[in-house]
Amino acid sequence: MQRIAITNQKGGVGKTTIAAHLAAGLVQHGNDVLAIDLDPQGYLMAHYGLREDLYRAEADNLALHLVNESENPFEDLVVTTDEGVDLIPSNYDMRGVTDALHNARNRERRLETLLSDLPEDAYDFVVIDSPPNLGVLTDNAILAAQRVLVPIQAEDSSLDALDMALDEFEEIESAFGIDVEILGIVPNLVPRDGIADSTLETLRATDGLQDLVFPYEVRKRADIKYAMRHGQTLYTYNDGSDMVPVFDQLTSDVEEAVH
Ligand SMILES: Nc1ncnc2c1ncn2[C@@H]1O[C@H](COP(=O)(O)OP(=O)(O)OP(=O)(O)O)[C@@H](O)[C@H]1O
Ligand SMILES: [Mg+2]
Repeated sequence: MQRIAITNQKGGVGKTTIAAHLAAGLVQHGNDVLAIDLDPQGYLMAHYGLREDLYRAEADNLALHLVNESENPFEDLVVTTDEGVDLIPSNYDMRGVTDALHNARNRERRLETLLSDLPEDAYDFVVIDSPPNLGVLTDNAILAAQRVLVPIQAEDSSLDALDMALDEFEEIESAFGIDVEILGIVPNLVPRDGIADSTLETLRATDGLQDLVFPYEVRKRADIKYAMRHGQTLYTYNDGSDMVPVFDQLTSDVEEAVH
């Protein structure tokens, strides 16, 4: 069971979009995939058309499991999606988890513990979407996966955000005595303009980043937004999109990097 957290504390860079398409791409490649929506906003579930029905559902939910207030098996939270991805949805209650865990022992390791209850061969991949801030939920995602994929937007403010993300990984490594493997940095929302291109060039030429930034980028495409609005990924909404081969390449590169 290979676990991957999609993370960057900067908002709106494409974490959820990448998580949704990577999970769907991994399914297309024949893998059994579990996606976990660890963001209280619950937009990963929106990509699979489940937000309307499940975000405010009163049933057992991920938040209750994270704060250790559910007696049901963790795997009972799994729902199936039209894209073949199994999903553990977020929930309105997730908004209270950070506060509820404030003084809890092992609060950063709650998701890791929950995942260890799943049979090791239940899934080939677990893809975890994380919220746009540094905090206990993001720590849970990173600790549970110990492998991260970092989406960035090709603009100057993203470079600072990237520095902050890399610092955070180092802090977690030393605080918890683990190694966090960076699978790669995915440029997203790249418009066709000189500024974005030169930012990317700078990034790809920066010491320590050359081997991390993927040599391709996810371009800004209206269809990506429309797909989400329809509760889909590009794979089902418009498989003729020129970004489908890009997500496919990303999927292959991730598969290769973890094996
Ligand atoms: N390549 C793209 N082309 C067009 N729109 C995109 C692209 N990537 C993301 N978007 C849109 O930009 C918005 C932000 O993307 P997304 O929700 O994936 O980012 P995020 O990092 O998960 O945000 P948050 O930090 O709020 O969780 C969404 O409306 C999404 O549909
Ligand atoms: Mg998101």
